Parts: sequence; structure tokens; C-alpha cells
Amino acid sequence: MTEPKATNLTWHHGEVTRADRGLLLGQRGATIWFTGLSGSGKSTVAVALERALHEQGRLAYRLDGDNVRLGINRNLGFSAEDRAENIRRIGEIAKLFVDAGVIVLSSFVSPYRADRELVRALHATDNMDFIEVFVDVPLAEAEKRDPKGLYKKARAGEIKNFTGISDPYEAPEKPDLILPSHELRLQQEVQLLLELLRARGIVPT
Ligand code: ADX
Repeated sequence: MTEPKATNLTWHHGEVTRADRGLLLGQRGATIWFTGLSGSGKSTVAVALERALHEQGRLAYRLDGDNVRLGINRNLGFSAEDRAENIRRIGEIAKLFVDAGVIVLSSFVSPYRADRELVRALHATDNMDFIEVFVDVPLAEAEKRDPKGLYKKARAGEIKNFTGISDPYEAPEKPDLILPSHELRLQQEVQLLLELLRARGIVPT
């Protein structure tokens, strides 16, 4: 993990706690971390889950690859080093939302196990839930969908370091949930996720 450049820093505690905010919202903040190939369906399921939670009166917020890279992470590319920094920053952002009591739905390829483990560890340090969801589709399926035409470009050599084609994807070893999105209907995926959130006590039953 990168060491802070500044020294002599102390976290300043307020008078309202994370637990207080959780009581206010009737939920416990948590990070649901979707990982998988580009085109696997991470964002699609996050959008559907956010809506389902919202309709049940639960506050969720999505953090999404392209959106974050257009803003706070606009100075990062796709080298292993930049991806690590991308994921580290997102992990820290997710924690701020979790502290605010929000259910974070984060959709990033996050191809390196070590980067995801770092985010898990960052959450564990502050006793926060980190739920890893592997959106697991075969490369051929993601490539067939190719919603942004990126696989085609990667095959043509127009995009370098493209995950699954010219860059690795390290599947999770012990994800909390596996969603084979080519075999499930979207509503089934949402149901599985809602059940998991209830089972973990993040939303009430
Ligand atoms: S991550 O590897 O750092 O987690 P992230 O999820 O932020 O990646 O961004 C991935 C998105 O950026 C993909 O869905 C795709 O739209 C786009 N993209 C552009 N170039 C690449 C690349 N070389 N590898 C993977 N995705 C890429």
C-alpha cells in the first residue's frame, strides 16, 4: 500500500457515529464489490440492484468503472500499476460511503486479486462489510456481447492491455457470490443479492 506523503495526521471523529447513521437509515453501510470481465454484466446487475433497493426504501449508490475514470481517476490508464491505484482510490471512496451508511455497489473489472484483497483489508481495518461478487461469464460470451465494441478493437490490436485478450483476469478464489450472468435472468441475480444482503443483516428481513 502506498504510504501517505504527509505525516502527523490524525483522524478527526465527529459526534454522530456510523451506527447512528445506520439507525437513521435502517440499514448498515456495506460495499458490494462486483468483479468480472468487461461486458460480463457488472454494471447491469448493479443498476438493477440499486433500483430494487431504492424501491424498498434502502439507500444505495453505484461506483462504476467508466464514470470514475472520467472524473477522479482521469489521470490513470490500464497498466497494472494504474489499475492498482484505480482500485485503491475506489476502495477508499467506497469506505467513505460505507461510513455514511450507504450500500455501495461498485463495478470495476478489478482483474488483480491483490488489488481486491487490499480493498477487503481496508474495509476489515474499520470493521466494514466487503462482499465480493464474481460476475462470471466465459470470455467468449463477453466478447460476443461486446457492448462497447472494445473486444473487436483489442483483437485488432487497437487497444493494448485489454483484460481477457492481452491482459490477465484473476478470478476470485472465494467470492461471497458467483453470478453466471449468461445463465441467470437479471431478476434472479437481484434476488440472490437481496437474499445475501438480508442474510448478512445489511438490510432488514
Ligand atoms: S480496472 O481494471 O482498473 O478495474 P475499470 O473497471 O476501472 O478497470 O475500467 C474498465 C472499463 O474501461 C471497461 O469496462 C472498458 O469499458 C474500459 N477499458 C478501456 N481500456 C481497457 C483495458 N485495456 N482493459 C479493460 N478495460 C478497458
